[in-house]
Amino acid sequence: MNVAERGLIEKRWSKVISLFTPRIQIHSDHFSLFSSIANSLEKKMASRRQETEQPEAQAYYQKPTKPWFVAILYILREQRLVCVLIGIAIASLGFTLFSPSGSTQPIPYYSDPISVGSSLALAQRKPSSIEYGMGSASAGGRIPLGLKRKVLRVVVTGGAGFVGSHLVDRLIARGDKVMVVDNFFTGSKDNVMHHFGNPNFELIRHDVVEPILLEVDHIYHLACPASPVHCKFNPVKTIKTNVLGTLNMLGLAKRVGARFLLTSTSEVYGDPLQHPQVETYWGNVNPIGVRSCYDEGKRTAETLAMDYHRGANIEVRIARIFNTYGPRMCIDDGRVVSNFVAQALRKEPLTVYGDGKQTRSFQFVSDLVEGLMRLMEGEHVGPFNLGNPGEFTMLELAKVIQETIDPNAKIEFRPNTEDDPHKRKPDITKAKELLGWEPKVSLRQGLPFMVKDFRQRVFGDQKQEETTTTSSS
Ligand SMILES: NC(=O)c1ccc[n+]([C@@H]2O[C@H](COP(=O)([O-])OP(=O)(O)OC[C@H]3O[C@@H](n4cnc5c(N)ncnc54)[C@H](O)[C@@H]3O)[C@@H](O)[C@H]2O)c1
Repeated sequence: MNVAERGLIEKRWSKVISLFTPRIQIHSDHFSLFSSIANSLEKKMASRRQETEQPEAQAYYQKPTKPWFVAILYILREQRLVCVLIGIAIASLGFTLFSPSGSTQPIPYYSDPISVGSSLALAQRKPSSIEYGMGSASAGGRIPLGLKRKVLRVVVTGGAGFVGSHLVDRLIARGDKVMVVDNFFTGSKDNVMHHFGNPNFELIRHDVVEPILLEVDHIYHLACPASPVHCKFNPVKTIKTNVLGTLNMLGLAKRVGARFLLTSTSEVYGDPLQHPQVETYWGNVNPIGVRSCYDEGKRTAETLAMDYHRGANIEVRIARIFNTYGPRMCIDDGRVVSNFVAQALRKEPLTVYGDGKQTRSFQFVSDLVEGLMRLMEGEHVGPFNLGNPGEFTMLELAKVIQETIDPNAKIEFRPNTEDDPHKRKPDITKAKELLGWEPKVSLRQGLPFMVKDFRQRVFGDQKQEETTTTSSS
């Protein structure tokens, strides 16, 4: 190739190069950009590598981390969480065992007859938040901390009566919200007055023969005149209360999905041909006698409860209560214990009907209330006999009354009333086995508490009468 040719080729190449030169410029810009990015990345990676190679503590100081994250890491690393959990467990145990209010202890009233008087005195005082604190006692006993029982809304029909008012005391004491529904036929506001002002207590004047709508979890259905005198006073009303009243309360239970407990009676056994009476015994009842409004009324109430249970899936409980006595019983209501006590206090002769050889068993009211609550809280429908199997003839009872109140009290015999059963004694095997219940208070232990209450009412009433007569004359 000569010089001319060579010069030509170089010229052409230089043209070609000049055409591409700006693009190469761009490429070189890109290259410098990429290389700068690569450089910075490399630097970062190097610094990271350095960081990870540095001791851990130094890393904390270099990189500020969120304080909560640091705390969690610290707790986990130092196993502080285990310590905290152990601490909570020890504190719970201590609190449960040494709770200052004793709020998880079963109420002594029911386990110890001697404390009945003091408990009644307590009931007479205005309730305070300490005495009626939440989750105090349960029919079953102690409740572990953190598993506090649910506060129940409970309605007690007939809650202003004798048994009802004692039941209300217990329910309020354990922290339930209690509504008493009563028409005050045989009950009295005086029996529940000590709860007035307590936000957990409500008193509703209502006749259960009429329907009522309440939002409740449990229904204790006690409304019914219980003494022969009151039952016979208006027999049609008595059977209406038993039948329509029970229907209405079962209807309420169905509507709001509440559990329903019926207080039936040993009278469903009538004049029993089987002794002692077991729940499987069907009874010997006169369906057309003067006492039938009560006896047959309660039998029908039991039938209704079972039909609602089977047909409408209502949770029902049936208690067959045997003779019960205690403070707040109606004075002069024709029931044998209250009759004898009132007569002995007034220095009147004790009236024994018939030959006095008919037998009864007497349970103290606190035992009954414990049984009712266990039944309601338990899983068994019943019926369950709730009574004290200790059997006394009327003459023996009169003797105990003489010993307790007045040894000189006279006994007067009168003709027996129609359909008066000859024998009555509960077989409580079923309640013992399935409810873990049996009465604790003997007649001699319980009677003085009733006598004290009657003495106050009989002589308190007399004093009041004397003051009114003096002031009016
Ligand atoms: N005390 C016993 O020895 C005994 C024995 C067996 C069964 N029982 C049953 O226990 C329950 C309570 O008996 P008690 O001894 O406390 O009787 P009680 O007469 O003292 O109480 C009954 C309560 O029901 C109320 N009452 C009556 N009819 C009512 C109505 N139509 N509507 C609203 N309230 C009405 C009364 O005013 C009273 O407060 C009753 O159902 C009774 O049949 C009691």
